[in-house]
Amino acid sequence: MINSSSFFIDLSYFFAAALFIYGLRRMSSPISARSGIWVAAAGMLLAIAASFAHPNVTSNHWLILIAMLIGGALSFIHAKRVELSEMPQMIALYNGLGGGAAATIAAVELLRAAEHGPSERILGVAGALIGCIAFSGSLLAFAKLSGWVKFGRWLGNRQTAYVAIMASVLLLGFLLSFSNTAHPVLLLLFFLLCLLFGIVMTLPIAAADMPVLISLYNAGAGLAVGFEGYVLGNPAMMVAGTLVCAAGVLLTRLMAQAVNRRLSEILYSGFGIPHEISEATMQYGHVNEVDAFDAAVTMAYAEEVLIVPGYGMAVAQAQHKVQELTQLLEERGVNVQFAIHPVAGRMPGHMNVLLAEAGVSYEKIRDLSDINGEMSKIDVSLIIGANDIVNLAARSDQKSPLHGMPILNVDESKSVIVLKRVDGKGYAGIDNPLLQHEKTRVHFGDAKQSVQEIISAIKSLD
Ligand code: TAP
Repeated sequence: MINSSSFFIDLSYFFAAALFIYGLRRMSSPISARSGIWVAAAGMLLAIAASFAHPNVTSNHWLILIAMLIGGALSFIHAKRVELSEMPQMIALYNGLGGGAAATIAAVELLRAAEHGPSERILGVAGALIGCIAFSGSLLAFAKLSGWVKFGRWLGNRQTAYVAIMASVLLLGFLLSFSNTAHPVLLLLFFLLCLLFGIVMTLPIAAADMPVLISLYNAGAGLAVGFEGYVLGNPAMMVAGTLVCAAGVLLTRLMAQAVNRRLSEILYSGFGIPHEISEATMQYGHVNEVDAFDAAVTMAYAEEVLIVPGYGMAVAQAQHKVQELTQLLEERGVNVQFAIHPVAGRMPGHMNVLLAEAGVSYEKIRDLSDINGEMSKIDVSLIIGANDIVNLAARSDQKSPLHGMPILNVDESKSVIVLKRVDGKGYAGIDNPLLQHEKTRVHFGDAKQSVQEIISAIKSLD
C-alpha cells in the first residue's frame, strides 16, 4: 500500500516538475507568459496535493490548511491591490518570504540533527545561510523601496563587517553540519548572524542598483528551497528551487549587464557605494517646450522615428495610443521603430509586455546595443515617460549614481521630443541634462493625453 502510494507521490512530483519547466518555457515570451504562470501554478497545486499524501505528513493537516488559506488570501488581496509602481517592492517581499520559509525548514531539520546524515545537514546549513540572507536582505529592500527606511549606510567598514560575520557564520555552520546532536543556542546565533549579513549587504544599495540585488536574492531564495528539498527528500522542491535559482541567476546577469556592474562589485566592493551628485548634473538650463501640433508635424514629415517607452508610459497606460500613433505614421510612409532599454519601467520585460499587449509587432522592437549604432539615421526620437534610461549624466557625470549604466544615445539622433508630465525626475532621483539639450523639445502632460493630442494633430494635417 505504502509502495503504491509513494509511486503516485513520486509520479505527481515528476508531473509537477514537468509543469514548472513547461510553465517557465511559456513565460519566456510576453504573448504566452500569462498561460505559463497558470501552468506553473497548476504544477505547484499538484506538488502541494502530493505532499499532503506523503507518509511523513501524518498530523497537523488542519494547521497546514489554515496557514495556507491565510497566506493565500493575504497574497491574493495584496496582488490584486498592488500598483504597478510598487512591483519591485512586491517581488522583493515575496522573494524574501520564500527564502525565510526555506530557512525555517532548515531550523526545524537542524533541531532534529540526529535524524539526518552529514550531507543533509551540510545542505540544510547552506540553505539556512542563503535563505536567511535572502529573507533579511529582501525585506530591507522592500522597506527601502517603500520609502520606510531612508538611511543607507553601514556604520563602520562594510568589508570588515562582511568578513567578520561570514567567518563566524562559516565556523558555526561547520559545527552544526558535523554534529549529530541539536545545538539550539549555536543555531540561534547562526541564524541571527546570517540575517545580519543580509542587512549589511542591502543597506547601502539604492537607485538603479536595486533591481540587480533583488534578482540576486530571488536566485538565493530558489537555491535555499532546492537545498531544503534535498534535506526533506522532496524532488518537487528541488526542481522548483533549482529553476527559480537558474532563472534568478540569468536575470541577475542581465540586470547587472544592463546597469554595467560586475557581479563581484555587487557582492563585495563598489556596489551601492553612495555617490554625490555633481554640479554638472544639478545644473538647470533652458528647457525648450513644444506643442502637440509642432511635435506632430516633426514626426509626420520624418523618415525614421524611434519611440523610447519608459515607466511613464506604463503609468499613463498609453501603450494603445502609442500603437495608434505608430499606425498613423506608417500610413504616411514613416518608418517607426521602438527601442527598449533592459531596465525600462519597473520590472524585467515591462515595456515588452505593454507593447505586445497593444499589438506592436516584434520586428519593430530594437535592443539597446543594436539601435545605439544607428542613432544618427533617426530623424526623431520620441521619449515617452522615460528618464533614467536616456539620462546623459550616466555617460558624462562620474559622480552620478547612474554613471556607467549604458543608456539609449538618443542625443545622437537628429532631434528629440520628450513627453513627460511635470518637471519630475526618474527612479534614480537625478536631473537629466537631455531635457536641456539643444536637440530636445519637451511636451508636458500625461503621456496618454499627449499622444492623443499628437494623433489628432496628425489627422488634421490631411
Ligand atoms: P524613470 O527613470 O522612472 O522615469 C520615468 C519618467 O516618466 C519620469 O521622468 C516621469 O517624469 C515620467 N512620468 C511619470 N508618469 C508619467 C505620465 N503619466 N505621463 C508622462 N510621463 C510620466 O523610468 P525609466 O526611464 O523607464 O527608467 C527605469 C528606472 O527604474 C531605472 O532607473 C531602473 O534601474 C529602475 N528600475 C527598473 C526595474 C526594472 S527590472 N525594469 C526595477 C526597479 C527599478 P514626470 O514625473 O516629470 O512626469
